Amino acid sequence: MKRADQLAAVKKYALSKLSHDKTGHGMDHINRVVRMSKRLAIGENVDPFLPIVAAYLHDTIDEKLVTNVSTAKQELVAYLQENKFNADQINNIMNVINNISFAHTLDGEQIKLSIVGQIVRDADWLDAIGAIGITRAIYYGGGHHEKIYDPAIKPRHNMSREEYRNLANETIINHFDEKLLHLKDMMNTTTAKKIATHRQQVMLNYLDEFHAEWNAEK
Ligand code: ADP
Ligand code: NI
Repeated sequence: MKRADQLAAVKKYALSKLSHDKTGHGMDHINRVVRMSKRLAIGENVDPFLPIVAAYLHDTIDEKLVTNVSTAKQELVAYLQENKFNADQINNIMNVINNISFAHTLDGEQIKLSIVGQIVRDADWLDAIGAIGITRAIYYGGGHHEKIYDPAIKPRHNMSREEYRNLANETIINHFDEKLLHLKDMMNTTTAKKIATHRQQVMLNYLDEFHAEWNAEK
């Protein structure tokens, strides 16, 4: 089976799982993560094939999207076998997508990822920061009826995975302090670190403006 056909199969799988998503993990997010994974792989002198495959699949077994994570994993492994991925490739892909979400690192279980995992995780995190990250936070916050901001609600840090998942009283602006501004320093690849530095500045400028306007200073 040709690589192009394997990629087409994987893309089709992601589309079938994510096309109706309303949690910010829709196909537009996946396509951006795919493009960025390709760019990062090239920047790191890594063959982009597996990073692209893992990028397409990285949200297809997420607990936010599927009712049964272990069934979703089995289904995905069977699909990869049908499409002639070998055992090493399947191991690598599954290892990457099992360990990719931000929440896995919140309570200190920093898992050492393969270079493919580092690339896809960086690409996923890059999509949560900068102008796209600001837009996604507002979109998510609106969908979850969060306030835009409330100076009386202080940002919380060092939350456990459970606390992070069940945050009550979140505001869109606090989400930057609690999560988005930390991602820059968690990037793995040199290429992503450079991109994150620029995107961080975009967020910091935005937050400065926001607070100045909030206080009628601008
Ligand atoms: P992931 O699974 O990629 O870690 P999440 O489901 O936590 O992502 O978030 C999807 C998008 O919504 C991200 O861009 C994230 O920053 C944003 N988001 C997540 N939680 C909140 C929140 N409580 N308020 C505002 N934005 C949020
Ligand atoms: Ni993602």
